[in-house]
Amino acid sequence: MELHIPDPISTLKGLVAFADETWTIEPKELQIFFQAEAVFWTASRTIEEWRRLLACSRLLTARLQSDEGKGGRLVGTIRVWSDQAYEAKLYDVVTAEDMMRQGIASNLVRWALCHPATGNVQRFVLETRDAGDLYLRFGFKRAKEVNTVHMRASVEDLQKLGLHQ
Ligand SMILES: CC(C)(COP(=O)(O)OP(=O)(O)OC[C@H]1O[C@@H](n2cnc3c(N)ncnc32)[C@H](O)[C@@H]1OP(=O)(O)O)[C@@H](O)C(=O)NCCC(=O)NCCS
Repeated sequence: MELHIPDPISTLKGLVAFADETWTIEPKELQIFFQAEAVFWTASRTIEEWRRLLACSRLLTARLQSDEGKGGRLVGTIRVWSDQAYEAKLYDVVTAEDMMRQGIASNLVRWALCHPATGNVQRFVLETRDAGDLYLRFGFKRAKEVNTVHMRASVEDLQKLGLHQ
């Protein structure tokens, strides 16, 4: 199936190339990248949790190409999960601080939205604190603009209610 990998983009530090690294990336490298970028929602994520996440979702990356033209420094990520029928969700959208505002996240989002692994879903969703502007240009609307209410239950609360082991 066509993967629609974005073409490499030129940045101030060099060429950035995109890849689906779900099956090849070392969870340790992801952990180091997210720690270096001080990403608050992954602060306590373990290597084992990264492994489990990679087993059920797709991890698309951006790498600053090295002079040798191979590999290169990880500078951007997006993770996409899909139930294959109704909903796909974007997670872990992060660009290295020194590489921001050069289109890396935009390319990753655009790619995730047409990635064949998302299947024929009816909608894409995501949660964000303050990066909402990034997604407006891709057709996302803030929840208050659509007729739904986002509800959630933590496992801790479910355990208190005896509804989860
Ligand atoms: C949000 C983030 C992923 C954007 O990455 P990026 O590669 O710089 O994004 P792009 O260059 O593709 O930016 C495209 C547009 O998104 C918007 N945008 C980018 N960063 C933004 C930010 N921090 N806050 C609000 N809007 C932002 C802007 O409208 C930008 O367009 P402009 O540069 O023409 O103004 C990056 O700032 C980041 O990693 N932030 C920390 C982690 C985070 O909050 N991730 C979002 C989780 S949902």
